[in-house]
Amino acid sequence: MKTLVVYYSKKGSNKFLATKISEQLECDIEELKPRSNVFLFFLLNINFGIRSIKSNISDYDRIILCGPIFVGRFIPPLKSFVKKYKKQIKQLIFVTCCGSTFEKKEEKFGHALVFKQVKEIMNDRLAHCEAFPIDLVVPESKKDDEAAFMETHLDDSNFHGEIQERFDKFIKLIQ
Ligand SMILES: Cc1cc2nc3c(=O)[nH]c(=O)nc-3n(C[C@H](O)[C@H](O)[C@H](O)COP(=O)(O)O)c2cc1C
Repeated sequence: MKTLVVYYSKKGSNKFLATKISEQLECDIEELKPRSNVFLFFLLNINFGIRSIKSNISDYDRIILCGPIFVGRFIPPLKSFVKKYKKQIKQLIFVTCCGSTFEKKEEKFGHALVFKQVKEIMNDRLAHCEAFPIDLVVPESKKDDEAAFMETHLDDSNFHGEIQERFDKFIKLIQ
């Protein structure tokens, strides 16, 4: 199955995740470049769109889209990509390294609500959604510390234990 990983990342966690996925699947990867990278616009849901990507989406059997969640939204660069290439995308998998935990996934800023937003756009062509909440790598002693959540990013030093197990399961599922 010919797969392309497409990602957007502000602070690096989703870049790390996207790179890991493409390495595991030995598939192509491309970064999404928003026309405006002003963070405030993302928070306010103001969308200037994305630059055209180099890959030919129609050449791929499936796209794995990877990116963060901000203020409970399917954020502008990710949404722009899906809307711009909707006709060419045969199958979509959405993956996020986000702040919302599994326990809070259905709450106002939870990732499950964003998964619903993706489903509304892609319908049956959304094959799977997967979240890797950052709390999986926040040290036990700092789980109540909100600043620690914001300051923690995925990297080789913390990608082990439960997150690695969940990642391996995810790869098996989609392989
Ligand atoms: C201003 C701001 C708002 C955020 N809002 C949410 C949210 O609503 N839901 C969520 O799950 N995570 C939220 N997050 C956490 C990010 O999704 C998380 O930090 C993500 O890993 C960042 O990805 P990146 O390192 O690839 O940019 C927020 C982070 C920031 C800085």
